[in-house]
Amino acid sequence: MGSSVFKAVIPAAGLGTRFLPATKSIPKEMLPIVDKPAIQYVVEEAIRAGLSDVLLITGRNKGALEDHFDRAIELEATLENRGDVEKLAAVKQITELGKIHYVRQGDPLGLGHAVLTAANHVGYETFVVLLGDDLIAEQDNLLGEMLDVHKKFGGSVIALMEVPDSQVSLYGIASVKKTDSPNIVEILDLVEKPNVENAPSNFAIIGRYVLDPAIFKVLEKTQAGRGGEIQLTDAIRELAVNEKLGGPVHGVIFSGRRYDTGDRVSYLKTVVELASERADIGGEFTMWLKNFVGNLNGKR
Ligand code: G1P
Repeated sequence: MGSSVFKAVIPAAGLGTRFLPATKSIPKEMLPIVDKPAIQYVVEEAIRAGLSDVLLITGRNKGALEDHFDRAIELEATLENRGDVEKLAAVKQITELGKIHYVRQGDPLGLGHAVLTAANHVGYETFVVLLGDDLIAEQDNLLGEMLDVHKKFGGSVIALMEVPDSQVSLYGIASVKKTDSPNIVEILDLVEKPNVENAPSNFAIIGRYVLDPAIFKVLEKTQAGRGGEIQLTDAIRELAVNEKLGGPVHGVIFSGRRYDTGDRVSYLKTVVELASERADIGGEFTMWLKNFVGNLNGKR
């Protein structure tokens, strides 16, 4: 079943302060997961889901993102002369992924504000937002499922994952109502990063959204919320509690594999996990890793 949603928006304007000094002169989205920058995984996921028009929301210091998805004529010529067919294909493939556009956020006033800068490009079409800090395993077709839910119910669809109490304050949290399908819920309310005592559930918003364009009108009026920032969660809440604005909001409860690259420890876990699964280096790496962990025993 094809989908009628073609546009993806990927906010990538954050300062990446958690990874300083590495991110002093390179965008955090360019940090490699093994040998591919994190942003490329996300763009490839969008393309796989049929989203052939990708808009990256960038900012100052983000030139490397544009270079990464652009041709690199000299490098290509060098690889060609050397007969390095494999690397040449890897480099060229990046530029053939799809149509990639860029817009700058200007002042970084929050995720909601970043999404609002996409309004002109998106126009009056349903679109998808992918957050670059969240990677979804290639085998798990989360976006495909979300687009199917959109097709069935209209409106907007968010992705949810059950998290332990200790992590509730790190996410937007949803109050939900069951539907006939066990992994699809109706969203009744949302709250950005609540204390665990005030959280309506343990269902956390993860970084994939199918959004009705009505979100833009709402975002224009959304006041700064949690952390003094314009929160996307607050705007989606408006849609959820006021269905007339842009249809209902549903949630897909995701139980597949999600990798977080947003802080140092989870970034390292992601690199180790994905490296150990690689066909080319996984065997050698895993053998070393087992040995390394064996030697650690008793040390910590
Ligand atoms: C953002 C959203 C939050 C969501 C999270 C998912 O927060 O504001 O609602 O749960 O992404 O990763 P951030 O992680 O950017 O602080």
